[in-house]
Amino acid sequence: MSQSASGAETAAGDGPSAPAILAADGLSLVYPTRRGAITALEDLALSIGRGEFYSLIGPSGCGKSSLLKVAAGLLPQTAGTIVLGGTPVTGPRREVGVVFQRPTLFPWKTVMDNVLLPAETLGLDMAAAKARAAELVNLVGLEKFAGNYPSELSGGMQQRVGIARALVHDPEVLLMDEPFAALDALTREHMMIELQDIWMTTGKSVLFITHSIPEAVFLSDRVAVMSARPGRIIREHDVALGRPRDLATMGDAGFNDLCGELRGELQIDL
Ligand SMILES: Nc1ncnc2c1ncn2[C@@H]1O[C@H](COP(=O)(O)OP(=O)(O)OP(=O)(O)O)[C@@H](O)[C@H]1O
Ligand SMILES: [Mg+2]
Repeated sequence: MSQSASGAETAAGDGPSAPAILAADGLSLVYPTRRGAITALEDLALSIGRGEFYSLIGPSGCGKSSLLKVAAGLLPQTAGTIVLGGTPVTGPRREVGVVFQRPTLFPWKTVMDNVLLPAETLGLDMAAAKARAAELVNLVGLEKFAGNYPSELSGGMQQRVGIARALVHDPEVLLMDEPFAALDALTREHMMIELQDIWMTTGKSVLFITHSIPEAVFLSDRVAVMSARPGRIIREHDVALGRPRDLATMGDAGFNDLCGELRGELQIDL
């Protein structure tokens, strides 16, 4: 099942009139560089429903990370609108948790202190935050490394710290940029199942960027395909698979058909 980007105004679980948690319209982003302007996004539109798990796939350099940074309030758009929870995005917001493509940890802080950072910045109750951080460090399998420094961790372990950090303040919206790309295959499967679990139990809304088509299909209510740069959304697919999904889901005919369809669309656009 698929539909054009412009026709997909609502999320899988929401009624037609449910307001979007994140909506972009006519969104453009131009980077001025010494060698001329680079248009990363052009006239991009999307609408993510409250509680929806929405994935973005697209060729390398098409503007996925740029879109995530605009949604996170870290980069101002050049044109168009982006609205989160009914209010235009003008800077970072506390109801958002971000996992960056690179972990961006503070090297002088331990794993636990890196995870606690958003709680500290937001002035949350630190006793409660510490208990939650400990749970999250366990969840990402780093309980034995809570007191270690980032330089003592592998790339995949650092990325897992970044995932725990994004969740510590219990944000309503998660923006995740290839969060599992640096993980080994088994940890990646484990984290996919855990993320589905977190999403199902907390009702968070997720914008998830990945290069992995099976990962996008496994996790999402909808998968959007971006064009090559300048990036815009050229197609959105509903994922009509029941929940919870498990590893056996990846053997389903419906799962594989959609993966094949997406693979074809990406090849056309590369
Ligand atoms: N800070 C910047 N200054 C200038 N150009 C940039 C900057 N960041 C990104 N770009 C350019 O914008 C385009 C989109 O980059 P972006 O990182 O958003 O792509 P992406 O889709 O996330 O790619 P990948 O899949 O490889 O992570 C690229 O052409 C890139 O060179
Ligand atoms: Mg990127």
